[in-house]
Amino acid sequence: IKTIGVLTSGGDAPGMNAAVRAVVRTAVTAGCKVKGIQKGYAGLLEEEIIDLGAGSVSDILNRGGTFLYTARCEEFHTEAGQKKGAEICRKHGIDGIVVIGGDGSFRGAQKLASFGINTIGVPGTIDLDIACTDYTIGFDTAVNTAMEAIDKVRDTSTSHERCSIIEVMGRNAGYIALWCGIANGAEDILLPENYNYDEQILVDHIIKSRKIGKTHHIIINAEGIGHSTSMARRIEAATGIETRATILGHLQRGGNPTAKDRVYASIMGAYAVNALVSGKSNRVVAYKHGEFVDYDIDEALEMKKELDPFQLTVSRILAR
Ligand code: F6P
Repeated sequence: IKTIGVLTSGGDAPGMNAAVRAVVRTAVTAGCKVKGIQKGYAGLLEEEIIDLGAGSVSDILNRGGTFLYTARCEEFHTEAGQKKGAEICRKHGIDGIVVIGGDGSFRGAQKLASFGINTIGVPGTIDLDIACTDYTIGFDTAVNTAMEAIDKVRDTSTSHERCSIIEVMGRNAGYIALWCGIANGAEDILLPENYNYDEQILVDHIIKSRKIGKTHHIIINAEGIGHSTSMARRIEAATGIETRATILGHLQRGGNPTAKDRVYASIMGAYAVNALVSGKSNRVVAYKHGEFVDYDIDEALEMKKELDPFQLTVSRILAR
C-alpha cells in the first residue's frame, strides 16, 4: 500500500476527527501518502480529494464533527457510482481506503473492495447500532451530552411537578435511550426493540408514581418510536398532570468527544491502517469482548445485534 485515502460518511459523530488523525499519522509513520476525501462518497465522486500530512491533522483531536465533512450519497448505491468511485481512487493513486461511518458506509466499502480497492471500515455512529462491535465512535459522547441535557430537563420538571417526555436519537436502535434511561434514572424508557407500547400502562404508571409522592416523571422516548409531542398531549389529558415533550435532536451529535471516544477512535484509526499495510481488505475494525479485532465486512453486515437482556432487566427494576 502506497497511498491511503480516508473518508467519513453518513451522520457525523464526535471522535471521527480523532480517528482521521490516527489514520493520517499512522499511515505517514508507515511510509504511506495520505489523501483526505471530503464529504464522504459524494466527495469521492466529485474528486474532492486533498493531500494530508501529519501537520494537517493538528488541533482536531478535541473537536466534534468531522473536519473532512460528511454526506449521505444516493449515487454510491448504484453499481455505476461504485465503479466510478473505484476508478477515481485509481486515478489518484489511492490503493487503500479507510471508511469511517456506519453500516451503510460499510456497504460502500464492500463494493469498493469488490472493484479492486483495499478497504477497511471503522465504526462511527452515535447510534451504536453496528452488530459486530460493542463500541462505535461517538456513542459515549452522545450519551453524555444527552444525559446532561436530561438532568437539566429533570430540574425544571421537578420544580413544576410535571411529566417530561424526552426524545433521544438512535434511528431504529434504542441504545442511547436505554443508556440515558439508566443514567438519568428515568421512570419509563420506551425502546423500539421491545415496543409493545400500551399508553394506558404508561398513564397508570404516571398516576401511581404521583400517588407515592414522586414530583416528576421522566420518560425517555427513543427516536425510533417518536411522536413525543402528540404523546405528551394525550398523557396530559389522561393523567391531568402537565406534560411537556423535549426532542433533543442534533445537539446529541456535536460537542467535544469524551476521553473514551478520543482514545478508542485513535486506536481504531491506527488499527485500520495497520490492517491495510499488512495486506488486509474488506474488513471492519471492531471492539468485541474487551479487545480490538477485525471482521470480514460481508460477515459483519450479516450479524444481528440485540439490547443486552440484563441491562434491560436492570433498567426496569430501577425505573420505579
Ligand atoms: O445515525 C445518526 C443519526 O443521528 C440518527 O440517530 C438519526 O436518526 C439520524 O442520524 C439523523 O440524520 P440527519 O442528520 O440526516 O437528519
